[in-house]
Amino acid sequence: MRKSFVLNVLAGAFLLSACSRPVPVAQDGTELWLAAGRPYAEVLASVQAKVDPALPAEGFHIYDDGAQRVIAAGSEAGLRYGVYALQRAEVLGQAGPGIDISEKPYYDLRLLNHWDNLDDTVERGYAGKSMWEWTSASIPEARIRHYGELCASVGLNGAVLNNVNSNPLVLDAEHIARVAKIADILREYGIRTYLSIKWTSPIALSGLKSGDPLDPKVRQWWKDKAAEIYAAIPDFGGFLVKANSEGQAGPQDYGRTHADGANMLGEAVAPFGGIVMWRAFVYSPTSPDRANQAVEEFLPLDGKFADNVIVQIKNGPVDFQPREPFSPLFGQLRDTKMMMEFQITQEYLGFSNHLAYHGTTWEECLDSDTYRDGPGSTVAKMVTAIAGVANTGQDPNFCGYFFAQSNWYAFGRLAWNPELDAEQIADEWIRQTFLKPAGVSDKTYEAKFIAPVRDMMMASREAVVNYEMPLGLHHLFGGTHYGPAPWDRVGRPDWTPAYYHKADSLGIGFDRTPTGSDNVHQYHEPLTSTYADLATCPENLLLWFHHLPWDYKLSSGRTLWDEICLHYDTGIRQVEEFRRTWDGLEPYVSPALFAEAKRKLEIQQHDAEWWRDACVGYFQTFSKRPLPSDVRPLRLPIDSLEFHQLKSDQLGMPVFDDDLRVVILPPRRMMRRPQ
Ligand code: GCU
Repeated sequence: MRKSFVLNVLAGAFLLSACSRPVPVAQDGTELWLAAGRPYAEVLASVQAKVDPALPAEGFHIYDDGAQRVIAAGSEAGLRYGVYALQRAEVLGQAGPGIDISEKPYYDLRLLNHWDNLDDTVERGYAGKSMWEWTSASIPEARIRHYGELCASVGLNGAVLNNVNSNPLVLDAEHIARVAKIADILREYGIRTYLSIKWTSPIALSGLKSGDPLDPKVRQWWKDKAAEIYAAIPDFGGFLVKANSEGQAGPQDYGRTHADGANMLGEAVAPFGGIVMWRAFVYSPTSPDRANQAVEEFLPLDGKFADNVIVQIKNGPVDFQPREPFSPLFGQLRDTKMMMEFQITQEYLGFSNHLAYHGTTWEECLDSDTYRDGPGSTVAKMVTAIAGVANTGQDPNFCGYFFAQSNWYAFGRLAWNPELDAEQIADEWIRQTFLKPAGVSDKTYEAKFIAPVRDMMMASREAVVNYEMPLGLHHLFGGTHYGPAPWDRVGRPDWTPAYYHKADSLGIGFDRTPTGSDNVHQYHEPLTSTYADLATCPENLLLWFHHLPWDYKLSSGRTLWDEICLHYDTGIRQVEEFRRTWDGLEPYVSPALFAEAKRKLEIQQHDAEWWRDACVGYFQTFSKRPLPSDVRPLRLPIDSLEFHQLKSDQLGMPVFDDDLRVVILPPRRMMRRPQ
């Protein structure tokens, strides 16, 4: 009797656990964050939708009028944003009776910049070839519609279709006709089309002798070209320009300024309502600190740009590093319109192989106080528009990794409202992207899946900083920008890691204090003093602003050398923790997504180990100190890594061996470390 009672209890417990075992829903990441919500058309059909011109053009108001749910909006575009906002609110459980959501975008211009080439390669693209399929006879309409939905769902309203390193042929008749077809589709989603232009287009396309912006023939050429584009695309947005930068020609080649060049283009598109986005990513090799150069070039031009010109500035003064302070230019220009440029594609954060959620990176920058007009002059308030370098390609999931999709999403959400919280955005993205398995209570799903994924995402960027370049180190990358090459000092100095870390037997770091490059004076007080003074400089920017001896004591009481070692080790440990967490999430996520992240996280850990071996091993040749006792020994000796090359495929992606470790090739020629 007693025995059968026990058996019954056990059988009952087994049945209960079998019933409550989660049953993951099959999904492969190709619906991105539109996976969990009701279809757009269904949401739209369930409401009374009305355009009310009294509301802000792209704004909307969702509310209940008795039993009727209403979305009122200032325009068709606003209505679309309202429907997606309701869809999101439904997924988040915030769409109960009495709903009342009124929103309008913070910035009018919310653009993606695609660095897509006309041969279908994508500069710094890690998700396959160009989704515009320039070389194909047909237009990939279904794909572009899917893209349009995704952009509209987060409020993006513009796309620059081609690379800033532009090919002049994008402005020939054939390409304009093709761009017009793409623009016709994107328009349906409230997205305006823009193009990057090459400065020398009049020379390349029409045989003009000059690109001088003050030459009447050149001016007329651009006016005619603008008229031709607008005849095909009446709502064309305008031009994005990379000029006098990294080998691209520009007005300075003719003794003219950036303002002369930008204003000439501005004049060409002005009659049609177009704009010019002129990039501030320019740096001359003659100035001693690349971080100073954008301010040096642009401050003298403040107030000289035409009304329809906007200067587009990268978030940091160097180049999309895992961590940089905000670009001081944001605090310097007063009479010039400024646009933020973030990089969604993970050029410097492990391509589409590493989990690196950028919500936190961008929040950090947008919330930074420039003090330009006194306290509270945040970067978010200084800029009037925002752009993100896209991470999209032909890969079925658009981004090469479903976690990379969260960066496209986060960019859109912050472009809509830069005051949103990165954690809240991660939370939204998770709930919209992953389908909750059957057989799991909301509470369990929340605690066992959503919270751990959110925590991983929130910690992920700092983990990358730790294992790539902690404590303010920057630009330690080799050739393709995937892996470490701190030893590299060949070529133009400010393209080499050695220029940035300045490691020697005495210490490490870039002195940007008044005794060094004085970059600190490009910031307003109290930042100048804060950064210049070792007692107040944030430790996560220490070696950005200071060159310090290896035995310099940090707030932890440890030496700089020990802290460097510890940070690299911590980065690996964080990724190990992500792997453990993810392994525990298998019951809640589809087998396809589970396998994808499992593989990528293994790669990420191996890459983190490679970063540590290379950087700590290399810096140790200068510090001549042992690793602290509480970090693990290096896996590989520095001699097996120094001057070696990463093996990459034709698209620039790293090649892995069977153990998911990068393939490292020996140096092509004998190289010696300087003594
Ligand atoms: C970086 C990047 C280049 C890109 C450039 C730019 O240097 O590596 O590929 O062209 O930025 O933003 O113009």
